[in-house]
Amino acid sequence: MNQVPIPRREFIKVFALTTAYSSLFNGDWFGTVLAEVSPQARPTVGVLRLNIDDFPALQNDFGSVRIGTSRLSANVPVGLFYPMLVNRAPGGQFHALNSECTHAGCTVPVFSRASNSSTCPCHGSRFAIDGRAINGPASFPLQSYKVSFDGTNLLTIEIPDWPHEIVGSRVDGGAALKPRLQLKFLAFANLDFEVLFRASLSEAWKPIPFALTPEAPARQTVFPGIDDFANLYVDRAGEAGFYAVAIRIRPV
Ligand code: FES
Repeated sequence: MNQVPIPRREFIKVFALTTAYSSLFNGDWFGTVLAEVSPQARPTVGVLRLNIDDFPALQNDFGSVRIGTSRLSANVPVGLFYPMLVNRAPGGQFHALNSECTHAGCTVPVFSRASNSSTCPCHGSRFAIDGRAINGPASFPLQSYKVSFDGTNLLTIEIPDWPHEIVGSRVDGGAALKPRLQLKFLAFANLDFEVLFRASLSEAWKPIPFALTPEAPARQTVFPGIDDFANLYVDRAGEAGFYAVAIRIRPV
């Protein structure tokens, strides 16, 4: 098996994170997080896009949701990333916050109108809807992310320093095999990955199946992270297109 660089005319752009979809893919999953890896883009900024329509709690003032990439155990995430709180304040103002409590690292719950705060379950620190610490022991605000709202439905959240990148190569398996695309990336444990494709920038991303070897039929749709580099193989969907490896997100 030989790996050859992707020729320029076969325009294949490989994304590693940036853009999340709040459309329901499967069951309780409601989206994925992608990050774009391209020389022109800021490769370490992930962009999470949420449709407010998909989150009843965010359709009213003081609504709040908590979304993440892995489940929680004993108030901390099983995995690298803390969930994100998305809070809606009056005036169509949204706040996206890291739920990691700034006192000792427990995961802070959604904002409660009753207490007018997110109250940490470990030692009772309280945080305002914009993440300010309003009662100790925590004395620092929750980390906040840059948010923009289009005024109707789309919320865009920038996540800096997203540690994810993908290398794409064409795999030439010889005369008996059609060339495939190999996607190599660091697949952190406790995260679930899927491969997405779109033929043009104006199309919506769609999950596509992949194989774990260059020769196997592409039938798998979800790859559980292994804390090591993963190599996934996809059948080429055309001469041009965009591929992405996405991390699934869900309410937690
Ligand atoms: Fe949140 Fe201590 S960890 S108050």
